[in-house]
Amino acid sequence: MLKNILILLTGVLTLSCSNPYKNAQNSPEDYQIIPKPNSVEMAEGRFLLDTETTITAPENLTSEGAFLADYLSKASGKMIAFNANKQGTIKLNLDSTLPTNESYKIEITYDEIIISGKTSKAVFYGIQTIRQLVSTNFSDEHTLPAAVIQDAPRFAYRGMHLDVSRHYFSTDFVKRYIDLLAMHKMNTFHWHLTEDQGWRIEIKQYPKLTEIGAWRNGTIVGHYPGTENDNKKHGGFYTQEEVKEIVAYAAERHITVIPEIELPGHSSAAIAAYPFLSCFPNEPTVIKNGMISETSKEAQANGQIKLVQESWGVYNDVYCAGKEETFTFVENVLEEVMALFPSTYIHIGGDECPKGNWKKCPNCQKRKADEGIADEHELQSYFITRVEKFVNSKGKNIIGWDEILEGGLAPNATVMSWRGNAGGIAASRANHNVIMSPNSHCYFDHYQSDNRDAEPLAIGGFLPLEKVYAFDPIPEELEAEKHQYILGGQANLWTEYIPTESQAEYMLLPRMTALSEVLWTTKEHKDWNDFKIRLNDFRSVYDELGVNYGKHLFEKETEE
Ligand code: ACM
Ligand code: ZN
Repeated sequence: MLKNILILLTGVLTLSCSNPYKNAQNSPEDYQIIPKPNSVEMAEGRFLLDTETTITAPENLTSEGAFLADYLSKASGKMIAFNANKQGTIKLNLDSTLPTNESYKIEITYDEIIISGKTSKAVFYGIQTIRQLVSTNFSDEHTLPAAVIQDAPRFAYRGMHLDVSRHYFSTDFVKRYIDLLAMHKMNTFHWHLTEDQGWRIEIKQYPKLTEIGAWRNGTIVGHYPGTENDNKKHGGFYTQEEVKEIVAYAAERHITVIPEIELPGHSSAAIAAYPFLSCFPNEPTVIKNGMISETSKEAQANGQIKLVQESWGVYNDVYCAGKEETFTFVENVLEEVMALFPSTYIHIGGDECPKGNWKKCPNCQKRKADEGIADEHELQSYFITRVEKFVNSKGKNIIGWDEILEGGLAPNATVMSWRGNAGGIAASRANHNVIMSPNSHCYFDHYQSDNRDAEPLAIGGFLPLEKVYAFDPIPEELEAEKHQYILGGQANLWTEYIPTESQAEYMLLPRMTALSEVLWTTKEHKDWNDFKIRLNDFRSVYDELGVNYGKHLFEKETEE
């Protein structure tokens, strides 16, 4: 017995003295992190992740500790425990000496890992880095290379949008989407909730918005204008409870959810529910090119003349800017929305609002005369500024698409520049905050390959990965003193041609992976060739999650 104990003891001592990982040599390939950190100092040794590994964290980082345990267990297939009270080998802590709120530092040695952040959010980013290192160092028994990593993002706003109106996506999918954002250290989810083709958020004061506005009787088949109507009812909406759940889910992952409630255009679904919002409540909704569903034809014949749109594009039937009832409705809706979303930003749309109805509408013309408004662009500005005043009165701020510059910018508005950079440049020169989302580089509904025949039907365009990577939110021509107004960037996933979750993932990845580096990594550290190498390893992260993604780059590399 004693002999056995002695043997055992010797074995343990030998093992600890000659830990095979202590002096392991690492190479740059062992540190494949996206987005690329500011600074990675390689060192000798590797930390072995095994069932003895325990994560510890102070009380204010327990949520992060639990996340790390979950990520590491999934990535390694080993049970890694979080135990706040035990002396762990992976330690999380807050460090107020770090430079910015999103700055983190990781120290990995053969026997411990310390992840420090200025805030819990920053610690969470450090955790994402560790998680990647485990997934990309997959070929061994899950050891992490020793290092000191110091990191912080280039931009404060790192956003990704999802249009759930053209096609409805389940709450589970929205959560998975948020998970993907979190993994990429993105911090904002722009949730496009209302459109011509569907209203997706429950508003208690206006139940018809979801009873009627959340459902369309059919959808055009094929690319606009379409070959026929599929005559299939499509829709869905998020209850306020589900919205709260998603907002909380995102908050745990340090992601702010910005809701978008479109006005005054893209409002056919709301008008179908409440026709009084239109300048002309008795004018039937037109589904372009005769692509109307059988159910809607019948409905219109029976007097239900306003419809949720079934085709794509821009529609003339918009909120009436003359009637007070419109503003009462908008304020009541926004009041409920603001109570659900802690975000200081509320996106009010503002894009693509045709002015034809306003020109013909006696109420809109009276509004112009009463307010001394010169033209319909100024009438739009009146609309947006009035909504802004209401939102500001609740302690929040608006974001609008760059059309809100037309007719005069609302005093405190942040501009989301989508029609190229021009809107963002003009707004920042006027000392307004800007989020850059130019359709040249940030529209993930565009084709990612020029071989369209091999791709699922898309809206058009051509946005390969390399072009996303080349995006810089700061336009070259913008004067240095105005750079401070460019808060960051965002890509958009419009879903007219994206009916399934798997296709949404395919359009998102790997382009969002490139975008994450655009928004996080300093310009000096950006390098397309280096990114491609790291992305090749990053595929193991996608594969581990079972997520769908475009493989064009990898196929091209293999062919060459
Ligand atoms: C937009 O793409 N209409 C903002
Ligand atoms: Zn009107």
